[in-house]
Amino acid sequence: MRFQSFDHPRRSTALAVLAALAAFSGTAAAIDWTGAPTTEIPVFYPGQASWEWVMTEKDHSGAPNFRAGKNCKACHDGEQADIGAAVVAGSRLSPGPVAGRPGMIPLHVQTAHDADRLYFRLRWKAGSGATPFDAEVAARVTVMIDDGSVKEAARAGCWGSCHDDGIGMASAPEGSQISKYLSASRVKLTRQGGGENIKPEADLAALRNSGAFLEYWQAKLNPGQPALAASGYILDKRHRLDDGAVSAQAEFAGGEWTVVLSRPLAASGGGRKPLAPGKTYTVGFAVHDDHADHRHHHVSFEYTLTLDGAGSDLIATAR
Ligand code: HEC
Repeated sequence: MRFQSFDHPRRSTALAVLAALAAFSGTAAAIDWTGAPTTEIPVFYPGQASWEWVMTEKDHSGAPNFRAGKNCKACHDGEQADIGAAVVAGSRLSPGPVAGRPGMIPLHVQTAHDADRLYFRLRWKAGSGATPFDAEVAARVTVMIDDGSVKEAARAGCWGSCHDDGIGMASAPEGSQISKYLSASRVKLTRQGGGENIKPEADLAALRNSGAFLEYWQAKLNPGQPALAASGYILDKRHRLDDGAVSAQAEFAGGEWTVVLSRPLAASGGGRKPLAPGKTYTVGFAVHDDHADHRHHHVSFEYTLTLDGAGSDLIATAR
């Protein structure tokens, strides 16, 4: 945080109080976004396209080349609107059309860092009028982050954690509450996913300690109310961390959401990834717009991110 010192005694007291409150609540300083480049990232409706679906040739003809090393975005960039439109209209990936939802939403992404934190600024035009799946929350936006520890995340972003037996997916057992998880957390994986064949806690602890998890940062949004931050990590399931590290600010104006998510660069405690210049991260984005829940979201393919430097899809520069 950059707090300047001022001579005026009352003002500096007020600033000191603000600084203390900010440190206490993990609130982020305001970033000046003027001139920060914007990347338009298409997030699209994926239906029930799980990790197991994309890996199976008879379902997805891209599977052999994906296995051979070609990443999702390398084949599909530019096709997101078409894929989303086909799935939302009702396809083999979506039993029945989904009324009132677009196939694709352009998500405008800016990134930045200061001495303390990494920031994402995310903007999109909200839809209205689709059937609400989640009556309580108008929208959510989520960033998923890996630092190279989860190889399927570098290859496929969010798909590394999206399995065929998750809630609402094609192989979900009746009444299943299986959330997102990583393949490495399961004893074995079939076309139906890894089910409840979870590795022993000691194995999971070893994975967690080696950083083999995905981190997520989410803002839950309702117009006229402060954004609620929710965050944590995905390994054997989605674990929520209530350590106050992630902060979310949002504004809803002219039918458009503008959300800033941030977290300290230093990772404190398990389930957080250290963030530092010079490393390449993979990020994926999900928008649960217009009261969407679970899989009824719009997602991105995988994007690379670095702090400073060059050569990544997104470059968070110091501001
Ligand atoms: C080698 C190129 C290639 C790669 C890599 C690839 N795909 Fe595909 N994908 C295809 C082709 C070709 C199709 C259309 C034919 C089909 O569905 O089999 C397709 C279809 C799809 C569709 C369905 C569209 C529809 O309307 O049914 C989705 C969703 C999809 N891919 C997601 C992914 C994801 C996620 C990844 C990464 C894990 C990925 N693809 C990797 C080539 C690829």
